[in-house]
Amino acid sequence: MGIVTGAASGLGRAIAKKLSAEGASLALFDLNTDELNATQNVLTGRSATYIVDITNESAVREAISNVAETFGRIDLLINSAGITGKTNLKSHETATEDLLSVFNVNFIGSYLTSKYVLPVMLRNNYGRILHMASIAGKEGNAGMLAYSASKAAVIGMTKVQGKEYAGTGITINALAPAVIRTALVDAMPEEQVKYMTDKIPMQRCGTLEEAANHAAFIVSEQNSFTTGFTFDLSGGRATY
Ligand SMILES: NC(=O)c1ccc[n+]([C@@H]2O[C@H](COP(=O)([O-])OP(=O)(O)OC[C@H]3O[C@@H](n4cnc5c(N)ncnc54)[C@H](O)[C@@H]3O)[C@@H](O)[C@H]2O)c1
Repeated sequence: MGIVTGAASGLGRAIAKKLSAEGASLALFDLNTDELNATQNVLTGRSATYIVDITNESAVREAISNVAETFGRIDLLINSAGITGKTNLKSHETATEDLLSVFNVNFIGSYLTSKYVLPVMLRNNYGRILHMASIAGKEGNAGMLAYSASKAAVIGMTKVQGKEYAGTGITINALAPAVIRTALVDAMPEEQVKYMTDKIPMQRCGTLEEAANHAAFIVSEQNSFTTGFTFDLSGGRATY
């Protein structure tokens, strides 16, 4: 069974659909009740919804303990919840409060869910954790300090966690997409979206299907000799 955060929208929903179709039981975490229910309605397998703010440590701890009790084990964690904060701004124009809220969701949220899922995975000496990073974390997108730096932190955490649990059956990896048209991208200023899409050598955005297929491979049993790594999904923008 697996937990998918940010399952009410975009990549989280697409990944939940793919994993459910492959037979996984899922716990879906998000803040948006209506859209989370809409995701649950299109799943084929067993699932449960949890309204959880992933920045709230006690809420995360409680929800994960409930998932472990209800489902008996946790094999997968996909951290897809994320926000961009305000973009198309230079560093001196960035509000510190905005930067902190982006860090709280993108970095602290992924840290908290992994912190409470790892002991449950260790009981069975098996697990697959996937943190959603971004090409912005590898390359640094001008105009997106808070987002880029928070995703670089996610990439750093992935490297650390990969090494820390490499002696167990648990792997921890990240995925760094370029641009995939979702609510997150649609809410950004067009100028910022153009900056990002213009840099994609394949001259197109990625699709939800491509993201879901790649994510499903990363959290599969077959992906057993790669940990601490950030996989690329950028149409050729990152060749490392
Ligand atoms: N779409 C892209 O082009 C793209 C590119 C690179 C990385 N990413 C990353 O992929 C992930 C998914 O992005 P998306 O495009 O599907 O975004 P999205 O906005 O469509 O979905 C994000 C979901 O996260 C949820 N969420 C936000 N804050 C939360 C919180 N505190 N607690 C619980 N849930 C919360 C939202 O309610 C939403 O349902 C994000 O981490 C994003 O940074 C997306």
